[in-house]
Amino acid sequence: MRIGMLTGGGDCPGLNAVIRAAVRKGILHYGDEFIGFMEGWRGVLDNVTMPLTLETTSGILHRGGTILRSSRTNVKKIPGGFEKCAEVLAQNKLDALIALGGDDTQSISLALTEHGMKCVGVPKTIDNDLNGTDVCFGFDTAVSIATEAIDRLHSTAEAHNRVIVCEVMGRDAGWIALTSGVAGGADVILVPEEPIDLDEVCRLLTYRREHGKKFSIVVVAEGAKLPAGGQVVVGGKVDSFGHAQLSGIGQALAEEIEKRTGYETRSVNLGHTQRGGTPTAYDRMLATRYGLAAIDLVHEGKFGELVVLKGTEITSIPIKEAISKNRTVHPELLKTIRGLQPLR
Ligand code: F6P
Repeated sequence: MRIGMLTGGGDCPGLNAVIRAAVRKGILHYGDEFIGFMEGWRGVLDNVTMPLTLETTSGILHRGGTILRSSRTNVKKIPGGFEKCAEVLAQNKLDALIALGGDDTQSISLALTEHGMKCVGVPKTIDNDLNGTDVCFGFDTAVSIATEAIDRLHSTAEAHNRVIVCEVMGRDAGWIALTSGVAGGADVILVPEEPIDLDEVCRLLTYRREHGKKFSIVVVAEGAKLPAGGQVVVGGKVDSFGHAQLSGIGQALAEEIEKRTGYETRSVNLGHTQRGGTPTAYDRMLATRYGLAAIDLVHEGKFGELVVLKGTEITSIPIKEAISKNRTVHPELLKTIRGLQPLR
């Protein structure tokens, strides 16, 4: 078969590991040929490709980013976009397309499938919020980076008797905040799933001071909401899928904490460092399993499906189900945070 691949949306450590695994198994087991479309759906619309061979995908397993580069291109917003995609896939004599991406990218895979094209999906997002899979590759790396940063913030917070607010990624779901916050021993962890209660935040910080601790660490997800308003965004711009750029909740919170408690407070935003650099061994393994499963899906003719992890098994679900809602942090897991805090 001739198969196309692309990576769409925000990049994520492990994308190259998926590409490598799918290409290797496709060539070595099925005799497939591959091309990669550059910069997500933009590469399909503009027919910009690179060859994906054993040689071009060698030595990339440990590399972050994506050799295919990425963009947030919304084919639905482009007049005649689906027809153009169909034309380019036909011109390249492709039998199938594997799209690596989160809900936005997969919404295009689904629409193309509904227009008669043969797509399978691989779930990618450090936010870990794609429905139907237990873990997305990239999440483990992001959590490791955030946890290491929180560990480092402890000593400087302690040296200055400060509160340090650490903002991590997580647009609609607080998986990174919850996991890195618990792993990093944060005193307060704030997620998009629950509006921020400033009185409670200050009570927790004050309690710690009254019980001998002179510094505190607060971890907040970028998508967490202040009681007075929605999420904190940069400017008024939205991307082609309608998402605003989130950033600044950490600083807003730090100012409010200092005002209310009098404790000297600083904020740090980990931002894109969480998406950069080499994937963890866990993410390389998971990404490899997803890549191998994706090429099997193509040969089984299971188009419109997305490979997923359920427990320890790799299986697949309809893309439609995966993008039907966000996978937010389960209330039961949020109890982990409360279990470590003093009762109200
Ligand atoms: O991929 C998800 C994500 O990392 C979100 O957590 C974040 O809001 C967004 O991407 C940032 O995107 P960009 O790279 O476009 O700034």
